[in-house]
Amino acid sequence: MQAADRLRERLSQVLDPELGASIVELGMVGEIEVSDRRAVVHVSLTTVGCPLRSQIERDVKEAALSLDDIDTIDLVMGVLDAEAKAALMKRARTFAQANAPSTSIPTQTPVLMIASGKGGVGKSSITANLAVALAASGRCVGVLDADIWGFSLSRLLGIHGDVTAIDGKMQPLERSVGAGAIKLLSMGLLADEDQALMWRGLMVQKAVAQFIEDADWSGIDYLLIDTPPGTGDIAMTLARLLPQMGQLVVTTPTVAAQRVAARAADFARKSNIRVLGVIENMSGFTCTCGERHNVFGEGGGRSLSEELHVPLLAEIELNAAIGEGGDHGEPVVLAESDDGVFHQLAQRIVDDVAPPFGAVGCSARMLDSIAKAVASSAQTS
Ligand SMILES: Nc1ncnc2c1ncn2[C@@H]1O[C@H](COP(=O)(O)OP(=O)(O)O)[C@@H](O)[C@H]1O
Ligand SMILES: [Mg+2]
Repeated sequence: MQAADRLRERLSQVLDPELGASIVELGMVGEIEVSDRRAVVHVSLTTVGCPLRSQIERDVKEAALSLDDIDTIDLVMGVLDAEAKAALMKRARTFAQANAPSTSIPTQTPVLMIASGKGGVGKSSITANLAVALAASGRCVGVLDADIWGFSLSRLLGIHGDVTAIDGKMQPLERSVGAGAIKLLSMGLLADEDQALMWRGLMVQKAVAQFIEDADWSGIDYLLIDTPPGTGDIAMTLARLLPQMGQLVVTTPTVAAQRVAARAADFARKSNIRVLGVIENMSGFTCTCGERHNVFGEGGGRSLSEELHVPLLAEIELNAAIGEGGDHGEPVVLAESDDGVFHQLAQRIVDDVAPPFGAVGCSARMLDSIAKAVASSAQTS
């Protein structure tokens, strides 16, 4: 395959953040040239002042640079003419019909999977604290603990109880946090710990799908998914149901963890899952004497983020309070000041990495009409 074709194929995994469909399928990607490891890509948007332009630009660049034979990319941004826009609407409508979500989660709701490839690096602790930080800023945050073998989020978030179903839909357990709330469902609720150990492959994938499709996630602004280490099947099941899902890759500063995380990220990309950023955890600690100790080495997060061409979103120091907070169901972020590391991470996600839907929009106006068109054609057919 020619480099330009490979690039077009790779760009087909970039979604228009609002329409939830591939920018290639929507006809937004025009000419592509690749020569001397340099790519020139023409992308047309629906309106000139599209506020989501920077997100689309970033996703296109990241997708292009993730190919081995491309080092630089020039983006030529344009605007679709009236005819092209009408064609885009038509494709978006067809797409919306074919992909009518089988879930209560709209394709515009950001879904973040916390992944690492390796256990014990702090995925669950980060999921819990990030969920609380996002909720504290007034949002409703869904949390799915998809780690059936090592579920921990009920304990970490201090949310316990029996899950009930209304009209066949599992109702997540809730906890309010500041002006927001957390809604939790855990795979751990399906089976007791001894049983869970016996769950394998397909059973787990089916269970994960149920937690997405047969659960009432209505009203959430974000969905965070904590996953067991090294399980590509689960990621693929999730990506099929939630095409907007992106991955946050957690690593410690050690070279070994970084290599495993790189493999997880590589697998994600091959499965058309976007990698949105790297979080380095256990980045040494500063003792009361002011001296810094890099217990697990240094720089793993930064070099992984450079290798993957994605931002390093946070460097979280070793902090015994993280474990203690988790044991009591009171995530450490609750005691953190507003400029603490988890609040900063949440802010970065809201501002930059995965802005909540509805804040801004260039295609949002179209969505309404598409939804109406789909509804009316469903009635007539
Ligand atoms: N930054 C940190 N400082 C101190 N302990 C941490 C930190 N991050 C995680 N831990 C501890 O490390 C252990 C593993 O964390 P966990 O979140 O369960 O990892 P994972 O979900 O990746 O397996 C837990 O005991 C947790 O309290
Ligand atoms: Mg875990």
